[in-house]
Amino acid sequence: MTTLELKKQEAVLRARLASLLDSGIRLEVVDTIGSTNAELKARAASSHETLFLAREQTAGVGRRGSLWQSPPSGNLYLSYCVHSRRPLNELSLWSLGITVAAADALERELTLDCKIKWPNDLYLAGMKVGGVLLETVSLKDDGVAVVIGVGLNIASHPDPQLLRRPVTCLSKHSESPLDLSMVVDVIAPAIVELCRLSHDELQALVMSSWPSRDLLLNQRVAVSALGEGVGIARGLSPDGGLEVEFAGKRRTVYAGEVSLGHVDTQ
Ligand code: BTN
Repeated sequence: MTTLELKKQEAVLRARLASLLDSGIRLEVVDTIGSTNAELKARAASSHETLFLAREQTAGVGRRGSLWQSPPSGNLYLSYCVHSRRPLNELSLWSLGITVAAADALERELTLDCKIKWPNDLYLAGMKVGGVLLETVSLKDDGVAVVIGVGLNIASHPDPQLLRRPVTCLSKHSESPLDLSMVVDVIAPAIVELCRLSHDELQALVMSSWPSRDLLLNQRVAVSALGEGVGIARGLSPDGGLEVEFAGKRRTVYAGEVSLGHVDTQ
Protein backbone atom coordinates (compact mmCIF):
# COMPACT_ATOMS: atom_id res chain seq x y z
CA MET A 1 0.00 0.00 0.00
CA THR A 2 1.38 3.44 -0.88
CA THR A 3 1.70 6.17 1.76
CA LEU A 4 -1.17 8.03 0.07
CA GLU A 5 -3.47 4.98 0.21
CA LEU A 6 -2.60 4.44 3.87
CA LYS A 7 -3.36 8.10 4.66
CA LYS A 8 -6.73 7.76 2.90
CA GLN A 9 -7.53 4.64 4.90
CA GLU A 10 -6.56 6.40 8.11
CA ALA A 11 -8.82 9.35 7.22
CA VAL A 12 -11.76 6.98 6.67
CA LEU A 13 -11.09 5.34 10.03
CA ARG A 14 -10.75 8.69 11.82
CA ALA A 15 -14.12 9.78 10.42
CA ARG A 16 -15.79 6.53 11.50
CA LEU A 17 -14.25 6.66 14.99
CA ALA A 18 -14.78 10.40 15.47
CA SER A 19 -16.72 10.19 18.73
CA LEU A 20 -14.21 7.74 20.22
CA LEU A 21 -11.28 9.98 19.23
CA ASP A 22 -13.12 13.03 20.59
CA SER A 23 -13.34 11.25 23.94
CA GLY A 24 -9.52 11.17 24.15
CA ILE A 25 -8.65 7.86 22.49
CA ARG A 26 -5.58 8.00 20.20
CA LEU A 27 -5.38 6.08 16.91
CA GLU A 28 -2.27 4.98 15.03
CA VAL A 29 -2.43 3.20 11.70
CA VAL A 30 0.62 1.60 10.08
CA ASP A 31 1.17 -0.41 6.95
CA THR A 32 3.32 -3.13 8.45
CA ILE A 33 4.63 -4.03 11.91
CA GLY A 34 5.94 -7.13 13.66
CA SER A 35 3.03 -7.34 16.09
CA THR A 36 0.60 -4.61 17.18
CA ASN A 37 0.59 -6.08 20.71
CA ALA A 38 4.40 -6.17 20.87
CA GLU A 39 4.56 -2.58 19.63
CA LEU A 40 2.21 -1.27 22.33
CA LYS A 41 3.95 -3.36 25.00
CA ALA A 42 7.30 -1.86 23.97
CA ARG A 43 5.98 1.64 24.58
CA ALA A 44 3.39 0.80 27.20
CA ALA A 45 4.19 3.72 29.53
CA SER A 46 3.21 6.30 26.91
CA SER A 47 0.38 4.39 25.21
CA HIS A 48 -2.57 4.85 27.57
CA GLU A 49 -5.83 4.78 25.56
CA THR A 50 -4.09 4.13 22.25
CA LEU A 51 -5.58 2.05 19.46
CA PHE A 52 -2.96 0.63 17.11
CA LEU A 53 -3.96 -0.88 13.78
CA ALA A 54 -1.74 -2.52 11.18
CA ARG A 55 -2.56 -3.62 7.65
CA GLU A 56 -0.04 -6.45 8.00
CA GLN A 57 1.87 -8.13 10.85
CA THR A 58 5.11 -9.97 10.12
CA ALA A 59 5.29 -11.62 13.56
CA GLY A 60 1.68 -11.70 14.77
CA VAL A 61 1.27 -13.50 18.09
CA GLY A 62 -1.58 -15.78 19.12
CA ARG A 63 -2.37 -17.29 22.51
CA ARG A 64 0.20 -19.63 24.03
CA GLY A 65 2.90 -18.02 21.86
CA SER A 66 1.59 -19.37 18.58
CA LEU A 67 2.03 -17.51 15.30
CA TRP A 68 -0.97 -15.46 14.18
CA GLN A 69 -0.88 -15.38 10.38
CA SER A 70 -1.36 -11.73 9.41
CA PRO A 71 -1.05 -11.14 5.65
CA PRO A 72 -1.96 -7.74 4.11
CA SER A 73 -5.30 -9.04 2.85
CA GLY A 74 -7.81 -6.81 4.63
CA ASN A 75 -8.04 -8.67 7.95
CA LEU A 76 -8.13 -6.98 11.36
CA TYR A 77 -4.95 -6.68 13.44
CA LEU A 78 -5.84 -4.24 16.22
CA SER A 79 -4.44 -3.60 19.70
CA TYR A 80 -5.55 -1.26 22.45
CA CYS A 81 -3.49 -0.21 25.47
CA VAL A 82 -5.07 1.06 28.67
CA HIS A 83 -3.43 1.74 32.04
CA SER A 84 -5.09 0.20 35.06
CA ARG A 85 -4.70 -0.08 38.81
CA ARG A 86 -7.10 -3.00 39.14
CA PRO A 87 -5.88 -6.16 40.87
CA LEU A 88 -4.28 -8.63 38.46
CA ASN A 89 -6.74 -11.38 39.40
CA GLU A 90 -9.51 -9.37 37.69
CA LEU A 91 -7.72 -9.59 34.37
CA SER A 92 -8.91 -13.05 33.34
CA LEU A 93 -12.46 -11.77 33.56
CA TRP A 94 -11.42 -8.71 31.58
CA SER A 95 -10.08 -10.86 28.78
CA LEU A 96 -13.31 -12.90 28.72
CA GLY A 97 -15.21 -9.59 28.72
CA ILE A 98 -13.39 -8.32 25.64
CA THR A 99 -14.22 -11.54 23.82
CA VAL A 100 -17.89 -11.30 24.84
CA ALA A 101 -18.01 -7.61 23.87
CA ALA A 102 -16.53 -8.38 20.44
CA ALA A 103 -19.02 -11.23 19.85
CA ASP A 104 -21.97 -9.13 21.05
CA ALA A 105 -20.92 -6.24 18.78
CA LEU A 106 -20.50 -8.49 15.74
CA GLU A 107 -24.02 -9.79 16.27
CA ARG A 108 -25.60 -6.43 17.10
CA GLU A 109 -23.94 -4.41 14.30
CA LEU A 110 -23.33 -7.01 11.57
CA THR A 111 -25.95 -9.68 12.42
CA LEU A 112 -23.29 -12.37 12.68
CA ASP A 113 -24.13 -15.23 15.04
CA CYS A 114 -20.83 -15.30 16.87
CA LYS A 115 -19.94 -17.96 19.46
CA ILE A 116 -17.00 -18.11 21.87
CA LYS A 117 -14.79 -21.08 22.52
CA TRP A 118 -13.46 -20.64 26.04
CA PRO A 119 -11.59 -18.57 26.78
CA ASN A 120 -10.90 -16.20 23.87
CA ASP A 121 -11.69 -17.72 20.48
CA LEU A 122 -14.41 -16.21 18.28
CA TYR A 123 -16.31 -18.71 16.13
CA LEU A 124 -18.83 -18.52 13.28
CA ALA A 125 -20.70 -21.64 12.16
CA GLY A 126 -18.35 -23.87 14.15
CA MET A 127 -15.18 -22.39 12.65
CA LYS A 128 -12.65 -20.05 14.22
CA VAL A 129 -12.87 -16.51 12.84
CA GLY A 130 -10.71 -14.62 15.33
CA GLY A 131 -9.28 -14.37 18.79
CA VAL A 132 -8.28 -12.10 21.63
CA LEU A 133 -4.86 -11.90 23.26
CA LEU A 134 -4.57 -9.86 26.47
CA GLU A 135 -1.09 -9.09 27.78
CA THR A 136 0.21 -6.87 30.58
CA VAL A 137 3.28 -4.77 31.29
CA SER A 138 4.08 -3.52 34.80
CA LEU A 139 4.48 0.24 35.05
CA LYS A 140 6.87 2.12 37.36
CA ASP A 141 4.01 3.64 39.37
CA ASP A 142 2.69 0.18 40.42
CA GLY A 143 0.00 0.29 37.77
CA VAL A 144 -0.20 -2.05 34.83
CA ALA A 145 -0.56 -1.44 31.11
CA VAL A 146 -3.11 -3.83 29.66
CA VAL A 147 -2.60 -4.53 25.96
CA ILE A 148 -5.60 -6.09 24.27
CA GLY A 149 -5.07 -7.55 20.81
CA VAL A 150 -7.90 -8.62 18.54
CA GLY A 151 -7.35 -10.52 15.31
CA LEU A 152 -10.30 -11.16 13.01
CA ASN A 153 -10.35 -12.80 9.60
CA ILE A 154 -12.47 -10.50 7.45
CA ALA A 155 -11.69 -11.14 3.80
CA SER A 156 -9.51 -14.25 3.98
CA HIS A 157 -8.41 -16.96 6.37
CA PRO A 158 -5.47 -19.34 6.73
CA ASP A 159 -5.62 -22.77 5.10
CA PRO A 160 -7.62 -24.98 7.53
CA GLN A 161 -5.63 -28.06 6.49
CA LEU A 162 -2.35 -26.40 7.38
CA LEU A 163 -3.77 -25.14 10.68
CA ARG A 164 -5.51 -28.48 11.29
CA ARG A 165 -8.63 -26.77 12.56
CA PRO A 166 -11.82 -25.37 11.02
CA VAL A 167 -11.35 -21.70 10.20
CA THR A 168 -13.36 -19.06 8.38
CA CYS A 169 -13.66 -15.31 7.73
CA LEU A 170 -16.47 -12.80 8.39
CA SER A 171 -17.22 -12.09 4.71
CA LYS A 172 -18.30 -15.68 4.11
CA HIS A 173 -21.11 -15.27 6.66
CA SER A 174 -22.21 -11.70 6.01
CA GLU A 175 -25.17 -10.84 3.80
CA SER A 176 -23.65 -7.49 2.86
CA PRO A 177 -20.06 -6.69 1.84
CA LEU A 178 -17.66 -5.99 4.69
CA ASP A 179 -14.39 -4.14 4.81
CA LEU A 180 -11.74 -3.41 7.41
CA SER A 181 -13.00 0.07 8.33
CA MET A 182 -16.52 -1.29 9.00
CA VAL A 183 -15.15 -3.96 11.30
CA VAL A 184 -12.85 -1.49 13.11
CA ASP A 185 -15.92 0.71 13.62
CA VAL A 186 -17.65 -2.23 15.34
CA ILE A 187 -14.75 -3.65 17.37
CA ALA A 188 -12.84 -0.55 18.55
CA PRO A 189 -15.79 1.06 20.42
CA ALA A 190 -16.70 -2.32 21.91
CA ILE A 191 -13.18 -2.72 23.36
CA VAL A 192 -12.97 0.85 24.67
CA GLU A 193 -16.43 0.71 26.28
CA LEU A 194 -15.67 -2.62 27.91
CA CYS A 195 -12.49 -1.17 29.45
CA ARG A 196 -14.52 1.66 30.95
CA LEU A 197 -16.84 -0.70 32.89
CA SER A 198 -16.45 -1.25 36.62
CA HIS A 199 -15.55 -4.75 37.77
CA ASP A 200 -19.15 -5.42 38.84
CA GLU A 201 -20.53 -4.27 35.48
CA LEU A 202 -17.95 -6.40 33.69
CA GLN A 203 -18.84 -9.45 35.73
CA ALA A 204 -22.56 -8.93 35.09
CA LEU A 205 -21.97 -8.61 31.33
CA VAL A 206 -19.82 -11.73 31.11
CA MET A 207 -22.15 -13.86 33.23
CA SER A 208 -25.28 -12.77 31.36
CA SER A 209 -23.90 -13.04 27.82
CA TRP A 210 -21.72 -16.11 28.22
CA PRO A 211 -24.33 -18.93 28.19
CA SER A 212 -25.75 -17.95 24.79
CA ARG A 213 -22.24 -17.48 23.31
CA ASP A 214 -20.66 -20.62 24.78
CA LEU A 215 -19.60 -22.92 21.92
CA LEU A 216 -18.54 -25.66 24.35
CA LEU A 217 -21.64 -25.79 26.56
CA ASN A 218 -22.65 -29.43 27.13
CA GLN A 219 -20.16 -30.62 24.50
CA ARG A 220 -17.59 -33.40 24.91
CA VAL A 221 -14.19 -31.77 25.41
CA ALA A 222 -10.60 -32.84 26.01
CA VAL A 223 -8.62 -30.67 28.42
CA SER A 224 -4.88 -30.84 27.84
CA ALA A 225 -3.93 -29.56 31.31
CA LEU A 226 -6.02 -32.08 33.26
CA GLY A 227 -5.17 -35.29 31.43
CA GLU A 228 -8.50 -36.82 32.52
CA GLY A 229 -9.66 -37.88 29.07
CA VAL A 230 -12.89 -36.53 27.71
CA GLY A 231 -15.38 -34.59 29.88
CA ILE A 232 -18.50 -32.52 29.34
CA ALA A 233 -18.16 -28.71 29.39
CA ARG A 234 -20.65 -27.15 31.83
CA GLY A 235 -20.09 -23.42 31.35
CA LEU A 236 -18.22 -20.63 33.06
CA SER A 237 -17.29 -20.63 36.76
CA PRO A 238 -17.90 -17.35 38.66
CA ASP A 239 -14.17 -16.56 38.49
CA GLY A 240 -13.89 -17.09 34.75
CA GLY A 241 -12.71 -20.70 34.56
CA LEU A 242 -14.34 -23.43 32.51
CA GLU A 243 -16.31 -26.04 34.41
CA VAL A 244 -15.86 -29.56 33.05
CA GLU A 245 -17.61 -32.66 34.34
CA PHE A 246 -15.62 -35.90 34.45
CA ALA A 247 -17.57 -39.00 35.49
CA GLY A 248 -20.12 -36.89 37.36
CA LYS A 249 -17.51 -34.73 39.16
CA ARG A 250 -16.97 -31.09 38.23
CA ARG A 251 -13.49 -29.60 37.88
CA THR A 252 -12.62 -26.03 36.95
CA VAL A 253 -10.03 -25.38 34.24
CA TYR A 254 -8.12 -22.09 34.28
CA ALA A 255 -5.39 -22.64 31.69
CA GLY A 256 -4.35 -24.81 28.80
CA GLU A 257 -6.14 -25.88 25.68
CA VAL A 258 -9.65 -27.28 25.54
CA SER A 259 -10.43 -29.07 22.30
CA LEU A 260 -13.67 -30.12 20.70
CA GLY A 261 -13.01 -33.34 18.82
CA HIS A 262 -10.29 -31.92 16.60
CA VAL A 263 -6.63 -31.17 17.28
CA ASP A 264 -5.91 -27.51 18.04
CA THR A 265 -2.47 -26.40 17.01
CA GLN A 266 -2.83 -22.61 16.94
C1 BTN B 1 -5.60 -16.22 19.42
O1 BTN B 1 -4.62 -17.00 19.51
O2 BTN B 1 -6.73 -16.64 19.13
C2 BTN B 1 -5.44 -14.74 19.67
C3 BTN B 1 -4.98 -14.06 18.42
C4 BTN B 1 -4.72 -12.58 18.63
C5 BTN B 1 -4.14 -11.95 17.38
C6 BTN B 1 -4.08 -10.46 17.50
S1 BTN B 1 -3.83 -9.65 15.94
C7 BTN B 1 -3.58 -8.14 16.78
C8 BTN B 1 -2.75 -8.45 18.02
N1 BTN B 1 -1.34 -8.45 17.67
C9 BTN B 1 -0.79 -9.66 17.82
O3 BTN B 1 0.39 -9.95 17.58
N2 BTN B 1 -1.72 -10.53 18.23
C10 BTN B 1 -3.01 -9.89 18.42
